[in-house]
Amino acid sequence: MNAIARPELCVFELAEMRTDVLRGLASKPKRLPSKYFYDARGSELFEQICAQPEYTLTRDELAIMRVHAHEIAAALGANVRLVEYGSGSGLKTRLLLRHLQTPAAYVPVEIARDALRASVAKLASEFPQIEMLPMCADFTQPVALPRAGRSAQRTVIYFPGSTLGNFDAHDSVRLLKQMRAEVGEGGAALIGIDLKRDRVTLEAAYNDAAGVTARFTLNMLARFNRELGANFDLSAFRHRARWNALAGRIETHLVSARAQSVRVANHTFHFEIDEAMLVEYSCKYSLEEFSALAARADLRVTRSWSDAQSRFSVVLLQPH
Ligand code: TRP
Repeated sequence: MNAIARPELCVFELAEMRTDVLRGLASKPKRLPSKYFYDARGSELFEQICAQPEYTLTRDELAIMRVHAHEIAAALGANVRLVEYGSGSGLKTRLLLRHLQTPAAYVPVEIARDALRASVAKLASEFPQIEMLPMCADFTQPVALPRAGRSAQRTVIYFPGSTLGNFDAHDSVRLLKQMRAEVGEGGAALIGIDLKRDRVTLEAAYNDAAGVTARFTLNMLARFNRELGANFDLSAFRHRARWNALAGRIETHLVSARAQSVRVANHTFHFEIDEAMLVEYSCKYSLEEFSALAARADLRVTRSWSDAQSRFSVVLLQPH
């Protein structure tokens, strides 16, 4: 099996990043596309975020997987082709793969090439019997995903980490519809969602005391300086994450500390003092709200597993 060869099939290009960044900076209010957080340094910083005491999300989801992986795997059934969106380090996936009965293939779709290569190498050595078909791609774009060598009973999309929450309602419904089309009538999606809590706890999770999240968001500017020849002054932007109760989401911004101009690929963008540039939404849900969202994509919540404190939930969605 050519497990490590496929990450070279990288469909994401520098020109696309330039177009996305120029478009985002030209829009009002300014915004930057969060998928560009994950260069090698960004992926590394994200792993550090997951270990911060305030950011309980990853540990809660891991705990759910530890306790319920057996039951979850049973609900997915035998001979599954498991597709994962935004696979990252693959820690939770390992728990799932261990319990799945004779999975037909594992297809991680991840934009961060180095993270993908490293996690697939690890998983391939732990699960030599599972066909690994990694795709370095942006999962929000329709890409033809590889089929398993042997025929699968069903396709299941695994989408952990509350990454769905990083999209606004319109885009998350679009993404859920794309998933439904990908898995077909007999398929399913297994999605990790962060549940609503009080403002103080939620804001602390995105403003950790050690400043790792701030380094993570600012790293995107450093990446644009390096890869697009931009000239963002990293000391002139500040990280800010606030809970928007009405919209039910954490909104992360980079705020300009002074009036300034930035050059990106022969274009100049002006920032006012305190002007906030949106970099990420992190939507939080109740199970009822999430069911309603899924219903808009013609998907039904058939099972869900939560931690003892109801902070996080892993939800199984199936077509109507
Ligand atoms: N999916 C993660 C989340 O929304 C990603 C994330 C964690 C993140 N911390 C962040 C994204 C800070 C932007 C800024 O929780």
